[in-house]
Amino acid sequence: MSLLARIQSKSQENMKEQKTDSTPNEEIIQKAELIPVEVSSPETEPFYTPEPSEDYTELKNLIFKYIVKERNDEEVGEIVSDLDSIITEILNENEGIKDIKDWKMLKEEIKNDLTGYGPINPLLLDDSVTEVMVNGPKQVYAERNGKLSLTAIQFRDNDHVMAVLEKIVAPLGRRIDESSPMVDARLMDGSRVNAIIPPLALNGPTITIRKFSKDPFTIHDLVRFGTLTEEMADFIKASVEAKLNIFVSGGTGSGKTTTLNVLSSFISNKDRIVTIEDAAELQLGQDHVVSLETRPPNIEGKGAISIRDLVRNSLRMRPDRIVIGEVRGGEALDMLQAMNTGHDGSLATGHSNSPRDMVARLETMVLMAGMELPVKAIREQVAGALDLIIQQSRLKDGTRRITNITEVQGLEGDIIVLQDIFKFKQSGVDQNGKIIGKLVPTGIRPKFYERMENEGIHLPSSIFTEKVEI
Ligand SMILES: Nc1ncnc2c1ncn2[C@@H]1O[C@H](COP(=O)(O)OP(=O)(O)OP(=O)(O)O)[C@@H](O)[C@H]1O
Ligand SMILES: [Mg+2]
Repeated sequence: MSLLARIQSKSQENMKEQKTDSTPNEEIIQKAELIPVEVSSPETEPFYTPEPSEDYTELKNLIFKYIVKERNDEEVGEIVSDLDSIITEILNENEGIKDIKDWKMLKEEIKNDLTGYGPINPLLLDDSVTEVMVNGPKQVYAERNGKLSLTAIQFRDNDHVMAVLEKIVAPLGRRIDESSPMVDARLMDGSRVNAIIPPLALNGPTITIRKFSKDPFTIHDLVRFGTLTEEMADFIKASVEAKLNIFVSGGTGSGKTTTLNVLSSFISNKDRIVTIEDAAELQLGQDHVVSLETRPPNIEGKGAISIRDLVRNSLRMRPDRIVIGEVRGGEALDMLQAMNTGHDGSLATGHSNSPRDMVARLETMVLMAGMELPVKAIREQVAGALDLIIQQSRLKDGTRRITNITEVQGLEGDIIVLQDIFKFKQSGVDQNGKIIGKLVPTGIRPKFYERMENEGIHLPSSIFTEKVEI
C-alpha cells in the first residue's frame, strides 16, 4: 500500500474518531517546532510570500484534504520526506486539478503545517520580524523595522488558525475553547502570545505574537536607533546606579519593557534583584536574580496569583531591587509603599501618554487597591516614592523614542511637581518620512543631582545645561 493510500485510510479512521474526541495529539504538539526556511533579505523584499495563484490554492487545499492533522510522529516524518511522491499521486488521482511549476513553496507550506506553526512559521523564524498579528484566517499583519504591514499570508479557514493555536497552548497545559476563549501563552522560543477566539473575536481566531529577541537590545542599540542620545544614556545609567526609583511610561508597544531591561542591566551585580512579570520577558545578566511570574486561574477559576500578590511576597524576600514588568492595578500601592520604605532603586513600567498622565494613573491604580485613602495621601506616596519618569513613544515613522526624562520633584500643596530634565525636540522630517529630532536638555539640573554626587556618581553638570543645536 502506498503512503498516500495509508494516509487516506488513516484519515477516514481519524475523521470518525475526531467526531467523538477532538483532543489534539499531544505528542505531535510537543514536537511543534520552527523549521528553517530560506528567508529573503528584508531590504529587498518586505514579505516573501507572494500572492498565490488560483491553481496553487486549489492544489494546496486538495493536498490538505488528504492530510489530516492527527497523526503520529513517524507518519509526519514519512510524509515530510516523501512529499514529492504524495503530490504526484494526488495529481494523478485528480484529473481536474492543474499542476503548478514550482513546488518549493507548496512543500514548505505543508511542512510548516505538519511540524511548525503553519503559515506564520516563516514570520516567526525571521529575526527581522518583531510582531505577528493574525486577525482571523484571511488577514495576517507583521511588523518589521517598526512598520506594520499586511502580508499575503492566509490560513485556509478558522479551523486552520485554531489548529495552530492548539499547537501553541497545549504544551503549556492550557486550552482555548468557547469556555476559555482568551489565553496568554508563550512559544518555545519565549515569544509572548495572546489569543482570543469567537464568539468574543468577531474576525475569527485572533493571535498577537510579540517576538522574543534572542539578544536583547542593549543601551548601545538604543543609542544607535536614536531612541536616546549618548549623554542621556550616561544619565539614566547614573540614575540606576544612584538607586533612584524609576518608572518607564509609554503606550502599547512603545518599547517600555525593552527600556526596562536596559535600565535593569545597570544594576550592580552585588544586588539581589527580584523581577515580577505577567509573562517573563526580562533578560537580566546579573548573577543574583529571582524571577517571579503571575499565574492565571485554573479551569475552575481558582488559584490565580496576581502581580500584587507577587509584589507583596517579594518584600519578604529581602530584595535590594524590585523590578516590576508592568503596574496596572492595586499593586501600585504596594510598590509605592515599598519604594517609600527603603526599597530604593526599584524599576517599573506603566501604560500612559505623558509623565503627568502617568502620575494621574498611578493615583487611580492606588484606589484600585481598595483602601480608601484620601487623594492628598496618595499624592504624597507618589511624590515621595518616584524620582524619575522616562516617557517612551512610538512615533508616526515607526521609530521608538524616549520623549521625556522627567524628575518627580515633590508635592507643592496638592500638586505633584514634575520637571522635564530632557525633552525630545523635533527639527524636521526627512525625504523618507523619518522624523529628525533629538532628546535635548531643558537646562534644569535635577534636584537629585546632589544625591548622585553623594553616592559617588559624578556626571558633568554640563549635560544638563548644554543646549544641543539641531
Ligand atoms: N528603542 C527601540 N527601538 C526600536 N525598536 C524597539 C525599541 N524598543 C523596543 N523595540 C521593539 O518594539 C517592540 C515592542 O517592544 P516592547 O515589548 O519593549 O514594548 P512594550 O511597550 O513593553 O509593549 P507592551 O505595551 O505590549 O508591553 C519589540 O519588538 C521591540 O523589539
Ligand atoms: Mg511590555
